[in-house]
Amino acid sequence: MKQNIYVTRRLPQAAMELLEKNFQVECNPFDRVLHREELREQVKGRDGLLALLTDRIDEEVLEAAGKQLRVIANYSVGFNNIDVAKATARKIAVTNTPGVLTDTSADLTLALILGVARRLVESDKYVRAGKFEGWGPLLFLGADVHGKTLGLMGFGRIGYAVAKRAMGFDMRVLYHDTHRADPEREKQVQAQYVDRDTLLKEADFLSIHVPLTPETDRFVGAREFSLMKPTAYLINTARGKIIDEGELVWALKNKEIAGAGLDVFEHEPAVHPALLTMDQVILLPHIGSASIETRTKMGLMAAENLIAFFKGQVPPNCVNPEVFGK
Ligand code: GLV
Repeated sequence: MKQNIYVTRRLPQAAMELLEKNFQVECNPFDRVLHREELREQVKGRDGLLALLTDRIDEEVLEAAGKQLRVIANYSVGFNNIDVAKATARKIAVTNTPGVLTDTSADLTLALILGVARRLVESDKYVRAGKFEGWGPLLFLGADVHGKTLGLMGFGRIGYAVAKRAMGFDMRVLYHDTHRADPEREKQVQAQYVDRDTLLKEADFLSIHVPLTPETDRFVGAREFSLMKPTAYLINTARGKIIDEGELVWALKNKEIAGAGLDVFEHEPAVHPALLTMDQVILLPHIGSASIETRTKMGLMAAENLIAFFKGQVPPNCVNPEVFGK
């Protein structure tokens, strides 16, 4: 008999087909995130779960699932939505989708850098509002991107891919991470390791590429903004909770920094109301990995993880291999 998998939201067709070929699949019929009670109800009697970053899989949900649930394939690289320690304690394997979304997320980071610096959204609104009356020497002056300093907070896969793109803009790339990268890796993208405060002080664009963990929760707040240049921009395509959004609003209002490009929010999907009124910020609805190609690859990868698990293998992207005694 085929294993019973619950998919918490419809995925690209190719992924649904692969899942349906291998499992008995049930999917959330609504085009919205499941409410807590619905999620608790739906996990019951499932062998596996295909979950999204918008599903909080905590002790309560795991308890509702009971002993039958053996594996959770998360449809994202970040897995801060899952209490992995609690899953591990219950011997439930957890997988993610690393790698396939790296370039797509890095592309969006560059789009935000260019967008805030060259005031793309403001300019577009201006044209649509019928205000464009001809070329002007002072119309929508922004900041150059080329030749500026990019500060990467985090130099993992996505940070590195952003550095690679920045080379094409002749940017100076600085990074900070918990560990210094291999010199060869630094050299490939001409990135220089600096301490955290130097990164904050020197960056013209500070871009966040660390995972959300207890250590990085509200990692950037009042102190960090006060160290940044008044001409600097904050870019966040990682996780909203890494930034203290209230303190970001204060820093923007008081011109401690020049602007921000945000794809993620502290209380997502809620956005701090003050941000909605600011022209110097670009706000996106968490679309870092949102290309047809990448979302399809992520779906196939999550499905492959489930398939491997039920074949008795350690899934290729298992984040808690301890479950298998590894
Ligand atoms: C997207 O935010 C992801 O973690 O994949």
